[in-house]
Amino acid sequence: MTTPQASKHRHISRKASLFTESVIREMTREAMKYGAVNLSQGFPDFAAPADIKRKAMDAIADDLNQYAITWGSKDFRDAIARKTLWYLGLEIDPETEITVTCGSTEGMIAAMMATVDPGDEVIVFEPFYENYAPDAILSDARPRYVPLYAPDWSFDRDELRSAFSEKTRAIIVCNPNNPTGKVFSLDEMEFIAGLCCEFDVLCFTDEIYEHILYPREGADIRHISMAQLEGMRERTVVVNSMSKTYSVTGWRVGYCIAPPEVTSGIRKVHDFLTVGAAAPLQAAGAYALSLPAEYYDSLQAEYRERRDKLLPALEAAGFKTFRPDGAYYIMTDIAAFGFADDVEFTRHLIREIGVACVPGSSFYSMSGKGQQQVRFCFCKSDETLNRAAERLAKLRTRI
Ligand SMILES: Cc1ncc(COP(=O)(O)O)c(C=O)c1O
Repeated sequence: MTTPQASKHRHISRKASLFTESVIREMTREAMKYGAVNLSQGFPDFAAPADIKRKAMDAIADDLNQYAITWGSKDFRDAIARKTLWYLGLEIDPETEITVTCGSTEGMIAAMMATVDPGDEVIVFEPFYENYAPDAILSDARPRYVPLYAPDWSFDRDELRSAFSEKTRAIIVCNPNNPTGKVFSLDEMEFIAGLCCEFDVLCFTDEIYEHILYPREGADIRHISMAQLEGMRERTVVVNSMSKTYSVTGWRVGYCIAPPEVTSGIRKVHDFLTVGAAAPLQAAGAYALSLPAEYYDSLQAEYRERRDKLLPALEAAGFKTFRPDGAYYIMTDIAAFGFADDVEFTRHLIREIGVACVPGSSFYSMSGKGQQQVRFCFCKSDETLNRAAERLAKLRTRI
């Protein structure tokens, strides 16, 4: 038998070698391996709405099983336009301004690949949803990170302004924000919008948590889309998805809303990346996006209950928590436990305590940042959250 010769060529591209596999998804695999309660990756463990599932099953039974139009079936695009008018007050042309994608994940990378040239800078608030860094590498963008400062995750306006230059092509705004739970205020959004207009920059807004908000007294917590602000409709790509709002993260159906010229670029990239999103699930999407306001009210109320169950459990166990105003994550500070870093702590939590979370450093660009932070998600059933609380009670603070 001959032994295989070592290849003279690298088989992994420079781009692919510049980033690691997702830490978030890895934590799910670790949770499964050690039987830990999985509060790492953000997907519900409760049933998706029965009527939405029924529409998908009907669509398959009715033989809606071939390719949809590459940029999305007409029914679904029409439903997206109607919902966007209802929720955001924006008139969108479904024929020229919507691209249906395989999740918002594909929407974001398709938008970046369609608009960014090699060397262009893209501004990213940090901590950030971990996909944005590989998205930047894959689309040849140079990320420019601007910190969000705890406890309220505000940014320094001078720092943000100084990140903008003639090299800036775009800024990514995730609002409501993963991982921090921040909901950007109107004042902050207007400041960002002003810079985008001044520097003629695009804004990619990840709005997949647009309905998951926790209004409170004394604060103006509401969802503002960048596309609603003056001068921004023509320079914003709204990236959205069915995943979180309808509890169907495995369906992989998302969409981008952008002005016609940008949309035509996104549609081309999308076509050659994926051809299209699943046709029967788009049919169910047309139904889901036509649900009445009460659906979103209950979604919000249920998430508030889940947040208010996990927050005290984390605090009682010794975590310092950053109370989220939106999305379904809680960022925490783990200093009280006396671990060298977030990775060591997460390993301990999964293997010895039986609860999985995500190490904070995976939301930062530089190693060293986020080392005393971990993120928990609470898009889980009562039973799961109770089980997590029982196990967290076994944790011991060391200082
Ligand atoms: C901020 C953010 N964007 C995008 C995604 C991925 O969403 P999708 O399922 O639509 O691809 C997630 C998933 O957790 C997320 O938190």
